[in-house]
Amino acid sequence: MSASDKIYIFDTTLRDGEQSAGIGFTKEDKLQIAHTLRKLNVDIIEAGFPASSKGDLDAVSAIAREIKGPVICGLARANDNDIDAVWEAVKLAESPRIHVFLSSSDIHMAQQLKKNKEDVLAMARYSVSRAAKYCSDVEFSPMDATRSDHEFVYQLVQAAIEEGATTINIPDTVGYAIPEEFGNFIGSLKNKVKDIHKARISVHCQNDLGMATANSIAGIMAGARQIEGTINGIGERAGNASLEEVIMAISTRKDLMKVHTEINTEEIFPSSKLVERLSGMLVQSNKAIVGKNAFRHSSGIHQDGVLKMRETYEIIDPKNIGLNDDQSIVLTKVSGRHGLKARLDDLGISINEDDFDQIFSAFKEVADRKDEVDDRDLEVILSELGNLDFEEQWSLESVQVSTGDNQKPTASVELKDSEGNLYNDAANGDGPIDSICKAINRIVKVENQLTEYRVKSVTEGIDAQGEVSVRVVANKQSFAGNAAHTDILVASARAYMNALNKLIIYNMRRSHEEG
Ligand code: KIV
Repeated sequence: MSASDKIYIFDTTLRDGEQSAGIGFTKEDKLQIAHTLRKLNVDIIEAGFPASSKGDLDAVSAIAREIKGPVICGLARANDNDIDAVWEAVKLAESPRIHVFLSSSDIHMAQQLKKNKEDVLAMARYSVSRAAKYCSDVEFSPMDATRSDHEFVYQLVQAAIEEGATTINIPDTVGYAIPEEFGNFIGSLKNKVKDIHKARISVHCQNDLGMATANSIAGIMAGARQIEGTINGIGERAGNASLEEVIMAISTRKDLMKVHTEINTEEIFPSSKLVERLSGMLVQSNKAIVGKNAFRHSSGIHQDGVLKMRETYEIIDPKNIGLNDDQSIVLTKVSGRHGLKARLDDLGISINEDDFDQIFSAFKEVADRKDEVDDRDLEVILSELGNLDFEEQWSLESVQVSTGDNQKPTASVELKDSEGNLYNDAANGDGPIDSICKAINRIVKVENQLTEYRVKSVTEGIDAQGEVSVRVVANKQSFAGNAAHTDILVASARAYMNALNKLIIYNMRRSHEEG
């Protein structure tokens, strides 16, 4: 592939993403996300808006000093103070960039800037040339470009290039454009702006009409070679283009688009999880690429297909986005026999054909009452029908946790093995749950990773029962565990033991089958 086919990925999670209502990253959060973006191998990190606060200026400079590889960029309005603040923040970066933006639509110029076109043109020239004196890498964005007089945008863009802009970014600031129209606008820059070949064209699409990904792709098809967006699509109002969607669209449809990115796609899922945790903005289950259900199949027909060959209903291998824990088969009322058999098989439970019919109809009855039938429901079905020889290998005799704001949480546990022997151990952890799991692991000694922990109140009031659900993963198999108790730490220990017992039984059955 030739160099012109590369699409540069400009991540603005730390700037536009942080503009989401309710998000405020600390400097440490920003650094952690920036390290992850480096692993993802994005080309440009827009680390913040340094003139907006002293804290943001500090965070951007810390990123500029610490993160090597990507270009580190800061955003500035078209005035001296903002441009100087960006330079102050990014000057120590390996590759710094100043991004200057200025409104170009009639409504913004009249209502916000109180300036006419001539004034704005002069401001664009002055501010880009000031930024270019500091730094050879300058990006210019005519804000609200898609609602602007296009002829005026061409004029501004030509002026910005003449003053030293190296990237021209066309923002659909209010998410107003429709893909075909947006693609035509981007394509027109090549005919209407004399010096456009001296700059890289970028697009920045907001998601107000749910078109941000489609508009970004239309931009690429029309010649844009930089895409701006955020992880999980966070950002102002309905958010920005979701970078994971754009990146995976490029990689999945390279046959059509003939472009590529240099993103380490295996880092997509971990990056999404980190941003979800630090932003507090939960990813919706049906979100493309990174939603909980993005690779899960519920209906019998789909499960049957996927079990025969993954590609029948999946266009992306989940491993390519770093999703290694196989949770593809979800048992619900529309699941079929094949899906149920596969899950029982995963749990190491083999059922003879005669018993299977009875189990399948009991499963359908439960599924009619519940959204999803999990491993614990299957256990209950099987034990009620006398089909489960689920002999716990380990049981929890007692758990004690000592925790507080001035001490490292410590848990001591006593476990009993299947022959009645008692074992005691204790461990410190990052929190009470971590210390419980570590203490249990010191006795049980079975390698696993706790990938999910959820607690919900199942009764009301001060003596409410807490139900804890966990998921552990080992060798790409996942096992759910559940327990309820008035003390959520006891419920957590029991839920964890419940999942570990399934994992141990699974391992035992597998080694028995392998002889
Ligand atoms: O949405 C927008 O117009 C922006 C610019 C600063 C690029 O965020």
